Amino acid sequence: MGILRGPWGNWLAAVLLALSCGTVGATDFGRQSYLLHCAGCHLPDGGGSKVNDVPSLHDIPGHFASIPEGRAFLTQVPGIAYSPLNNDEVAEVLNWVLLNFSQNTLGTAFQPFTPAEVARLRAERPADIFKVRSAVLAVLAAKGIRLNY
Ligand code: HEC
Repeated sequence: MGILRGPWGNWLAAVLLALSCGTVGATDFGRQSYLLHCAGCHLPDGGGSKVNDVPSLHDIPGHFASIPEGRAFLTQVPGIAYSPLNNDEVAEVLNWVLLNFSQNTLGTAFQPFTPAEVARLRAERPADIFKVRSAVLAVLAAKGIRLNY
């Protein structure tokens, strides 16, 4: 990286450092948590991986956020429930994922997750998460929202 050498190198390094440390607002925190804790499986663009059975985070989770059963499911999937993130951080990263990858299905009545809601829902650890997911899909289907999986 020739650009980081020479008289401009230190300046550029200082700017990069300032950008990465100084301006971490709420949204940036969600993004950084996503990249650190979720992107390894769900990929940086949230597209997931069919061959590895990792679902895409586009479109579908937005529907989940509109019903209580779906909100519980979102906090209980293993990648979230068992992550090292605390409840504040889970709320932040979930809201970031929903607003950035599933905005098209969120609807205007979207209520962002609060840490208290995450704490309450995440405390329950369903033995079979796929059963929970099927139940969520059934509730949505009854409302006329049929999701293809
Ligand atoms: C070790 C890989 C891995 C990591 C890390 C991971 N996930 Fe997942 N995620 C999965 C898999 C696999 C599933 C499918 C359900 C299952 O098998 O548990 C899933 C399911 C989900 C779902 C439900 C999607 C659907 O349509 O059913 C959401 C939302 C989700 N993950 C978000 C996240 C977030 C946010 C993070 C970071 C905090 C994260 N995941 C970390 C692998 C991972």
